[in-house]
Amino acid sequence: MQIAHNGRNSHSSLSPDGSVPVAPSAIPGNIPALTRDFQQVKAEIPRALEPAEIPGIVDDFRQAAVNAIQAGFDGVELQGANSHLIEQFLEDGTNIRSDNYGGPQENRARFLFDIVEQVSAAIGSDRLGVRLSPFGQYGGIRDSKPKELFTFVIEELNKRHLAWLHLIEARGSEIGLTDDLHADAINNAALFRPLFNGALLSAAAYTPDTAALAIEQKHADAVVFGRLFIANPDLVERIRKSFPLNPSDRLQDLWSRSMSAVAQAPQSQVSKLASQLIGVWALVSYTDEQPNREDTYPFGPQPQGFLIYTADGFVSAQLMKPDRPAFQSPDWDHGTP
Ligand SMILES: Cc1cc2nc3c(=O)[nH]c(=O)nc-3n(C[C@H](O)[C@H](O)[C@H](O)COP(=O)(O)O)c2cc1C
Repeated sequence: MQIAHNGRNSHSSLSPDGSVPVAPSAIPGNIPALTRDFQQVKAEIPRALEPAEIPGIVDDFRQAAVNAIQAGFDGVELQGANSHLIEQFLEDGTNIRSDNYGGPQENRARFLFDIVEQVSAAIGSDRLGVRLSPFGQYGGIRDSKPKELFTFVIEELNKRHLAWLHLIEARGSEIGLTDDLHADAINNAALFRPLFNGALLSAAAYTPDTAALAIEQKHADAVVFGRLFIANPDLVERIRKSFPLNPSDRLQDLWSRSMSAVAQAPQSQVSKLASQLIGVWALVSYTDEQPNREDTYPFGPQPQGFLIYTADGFVSAQLMKPDRPAFQSPDWDHGTP
């Protein structure tokens, strides 16, 4: 289960008292915000968090992780990617604070490390993964020295014995919004693999062939598919048997089908946290070479599940085990080969 705080990417209509979103610094993003009634509007200028407020947010992450484990999830992933609050703290384009949480990279990474420390103490670092998007630009995120920053962050995370590190490739940094790729982007998995001894997951714009190559070249232990998996609910079988794949869907189509799935799902399957849904995501990892490494991958070699993106900035999820009913509408059935 992925847990996240949207920071400046949220909107005042989503906060109980109508206050503007919070962020490390009062710098607005360059993507539209989504209102409570799903309208896209100009991003608001966020309010810079007071130093005294930060421990409370760290504690929210800890509590969310504890709730996830109590609800039966095997582990949690911190959303440190895609221009959400943790990444807003990490990068100096969004963080111009002058306290202990701003300035040098050691300070900007403190928010992430505080959360890792608290969540690890609560649920165990072997149940915790972190997702990062080095060199990503989505949401107007940027850093003046991204290679130095993420080298430092990943080296530090390596000391904290996480269950996995999940890197998004910058070639597809628009979180699946566009089919256009940044072909000349740095290969994050190849660059940072040597710095991390634990399981490394790599995501974004993979095909079965490029995924197999990344595994073969030992750039990653597993490759994560987003849109292709949504378009092909039986993706693992199709890859295994070299069946043709349905093409990835455009985000807008995914969005409306997500809403339709949510609307039709029995209430019992929708967690309390997800009462204000703003999106659904599915994931699966592909690791043909090491089919028996359940011990290494906390979810087993073929995890499948939906992440449910809630309006208050946190994400819940429904893992699909074979014996559980799938949380999907008939619209999602693209047929099997
Ligand atoms: C509808 C949709 C929802 C997404 N939601 C999340 C999310 O909640 N958390 C996250 O880390 N990434 C999210 N992503 C980004 C994907 O995880 C992934 O990085 C991106 O789609 C690129 O991988 P792909 O080319 O395999 O789709 C989402 C993507 C889509 C299309």
